Amino acid sequence: MNKIIDGLKISSDIKKEIKDEISLIKQRGDRVPSLSIVLVGNHSASSIYVNAKIRACEEVGINVELISLNDNILELELLDLIRKLNNKKSLDGFIVQLPLPDQINVQNVIDSINPDKDVDGFTNDNIGSITSDIKKLLPATGLGVMTLIERYKIDLESKSCAILGSSRNVGAAIAQMLMQREEVTVTVCNSKTKNLKNITKKADLIISAVGKPNLVTSEMVKDGVVIIDVGISRVRDKSKKSGFKIVGDVDYDNVFAKASMITPVPGGVGPMTIASLIQNTLKAHKNNEEG
Ligand code: GUN
Repeated sequence: MNKIIDGLKISSDIKKEIKDEISLIKQRGDRVPSLSIVLVGNHSASSIYVNAKIRACEEVGINVELISLNDNILELELLDLIRKLNNKKSLDGFIVQLPLPDQINVQNVIDSINPDKDVDGFTNDNIGSITSDIKKLLPATGLGVMTLIERYKIDLESKSCAILGSSRNVGAAIAQMLMQREEVTVTVCNSKTKNLKNITKKADLIISAVGKPNLVTSEMVKDGVVIIDVGISRVRDKSKKSGFKIVGDVDYDNVFAKASMITPVPGGVGPMTIASLIQNTLKAHKNNEEG
């Protein structure tokens, strides 16, 4: 079995499936799914992620629009734009790329998004639906992680999972998604957790979503561990033309030998978040069409 959990391959499979569905919509002469992406300022990492999202939408046939705003925009102005996007009937979904400048309260922004159009799955309504029988637009990163687990048939029965990072949209959301399966024991760690190594060393599956390079070292994991690395950080690397490289939370080169399966960074969870965003957009489109 291949040891590397290839997020690029799975995301590409999902995009192909969605492209086929959208081709059928086009053949019927129906309205195609549409997505708007709101980008505030010119944060360089955000611009890279947003470009990747636009490319993926174009690939599958989603009608995508980029709305670029100046980084001195007031919260009130952004909320006004969100109100307009919420009310635009022909628009199926939109996202506001994070982070946002300091003058804007992120939670106010998320709370103002219509959950039916929240294809990031960040609103309380959508996060809450994880534990409900009727799933709505699930948090995109968590959905991507669960898709990797399902498509690689990672066995969770009676296993223990350590999640590092308890943010509402990512770590805590993934914990809830795993708990829904009622077969795996989940421990969620945060920055106050004592003796993290004691927890990670016993874990069959480690999902790290902190954003701290080298947080997980080889001494912290047991032989045969499965690693899903959600972290994305830019670190200096003189050997690269750009002067930096992208790394995850896990000391990949050293942990690799002990792991039975592992996601690389880049090429692991990152592309899956984009695949999930596209899946959510198609779902929002179906719901919008059904009225
Ligand atoms: N910034 C980093 N990741 C994400 C994401 O998945 N969605 C949004 N909106 N912003 C992000």
